[in-house]
Amino acid sequence: MNDLKVVILAAGQGTRMKSDVPKVLHKILDKPMVEYVIGVSKEVGAKEVCVVVGHQSAMVKSIIKDRCDDVSFALQKEQLGTGHALMQTGDFINSGNILVLCGDTPLIKAETLKVFMDYHEKEGNAVTVMSMCVEDPTGYGRIVIDQKNGSFSKIVEEKDANAEEKKIKEVNTGVYIFKAEALCEALSKLQNNNAQNEYYLTDTVEIIANSGKNVSAYMSMDPNEFMGINNKLQLSNAIAVMRDRINTRLMLDGVTITDPASTYIGSDVKIERDTIIYPGCMIEGNTQIGKSCIIGPNTKITSSKIDDCVTILNSVLDRAEIKGYSSVGPFAYLRPDSKIGEHVKIGDFVEVKNSNIDDGTKVSHLTYIGDSDVGKCVNFGCGTVTVNYDGKTKNRCKIGDGAFIGCNTNLVAPVEIEARAYTAAGSTITQNVPEDSLAIARNRQENKEGWRKKNDNE
Ligand code: UD1
Ligand code: CA
Repeated sequence: MNDLKVVILAAGQGTRMKSDVPKVLHKILDKPMVEYVIGVSKEVGAKEVCVVVGHQSAMVKSIIKDRCDDVSFALQKEQLGTGHALMQTGDFINSGNILVLCGDTPLIKAETLKVFMDYHEKEGNAVTVMSMCVEDPTGYGRIVIDQKNGSFSKIVEEKDANAEEKKIKEVNTGVYIFKAEALCEALSKLQNNNAQNEYYLTDTVEIIANSGKNVSAYMSMDPNEFMGINNKLQLSNAIAVMRDRINTRLMLDGVTITDPASTYIGSDVKIERDTIIYPGCMIEGNTQIGKSCIIGPNTKITSSKIDDCVTILNSVLDRAEIKGYSSVGPFAYLRPDSKIGEHVKIGDFVEVKNSNIDDGTKVSHLTYIGDSDVGKCVNFGCGTVTVNYDGKTKNRCKIGDGAFIGCNTNLVAPVEIEARAYTAAGSTITQNVPEDSLAIARNRQENKEGWRKKNDNE
């Protein structure tokens, strides 16, 4: 559709969330709910998106600006109704087709909106309202059909509805598309003489119908998509719907998910075929996982890049990169800017941060590697610590190809262990170790013979 602009209503407080966080910032999986609505707006070809903010507007604006490009904002200081919210967008609604969405309905699909917009264009409507049929219409605006000519004539809010109208099961989803001129003209005539003393956007439909222009309702078949989130129970229901949608898509693309109900994968995550995800995993951000990996159980991965045939067991990865055929865990923690090569073993209780670990290296147990550059085929004994922080600055360790770090070694940075060098177990290394040599940096053992007997006799 040409000239498509989207207004997203997000000024309300969301009292029923019982939260200090504005409603539209509550997360569905790894993103604030309003981000899905912005995403879908762009997906259907919106040239411009305007979010109406009000309650805690500074926080809402800054989070959206951080995460989404090309969004403008309108401020609704007092929340005097959905129609009043549209009035605050000023020139934004002066031209084109205006699609109105709510920031608290994150499950809407682009396909549904496209069909809806095509219908609006084909019918030559001044406004089209997306409706749905629900068993329990409580709380929704009802779609009222004119008894004389059988056409859609107005929307009546629950609080203003009479007994007959309350029985109507076709309701307003809160999604509309307007021709700009019709919307602006109707907003100028809007009044607030209703049960809530609000300027209802829904009343514009009747105003436009009365001016003789085409108005219709388009019924959607999937009420799930318009599930509004008003409290934390609905939030958890929406998370479940989104989770199932994403997991279904991945499984149909060839990913094995052994327990979809306990697997939480963000919508931007990419996973290739024959990877197996075991229960209890959260995979978030722009994570990419290659083919034939084994992930989990109980693993959290955020914005990381994992190549083919990698195994990750009971571990946490945050902005890390792992090349093929490596294994991580159980109970490892890979922090930002950890770059792990091919055929590397990162074993249990190993933490890596801001370090490069090259192909074939083994870090099997109880080790911290921070701010370090580690070569190929290095072997770390149990309990190695890179002492990278002196209380003021972070320094780097460099460890050459084929080096062997003895158990319980401290490597006090900045320090270099050259290729194929050894450190003796229990050493605290403070000076560079030349290639092919052995560094021993601990006291030699002394045995005091007969010491026990002498002591016991005293
Ligand atoms: C609205 C519709 C109702 C529809 C329902 C669908 C009106 C009058 N009623 O009712 O017909 O069935 O949505 O979910 O529009 N908002 C603002 N500023 C305001 C008031 C609201 O930005 O002054 C925003 C809210 O943040 C929310 C959205 O508009 O995102 C809808 O507001 P809400 O109060 O939830 O409307 P409902 O009573 O659910
Ligand atoms: Ca309301």
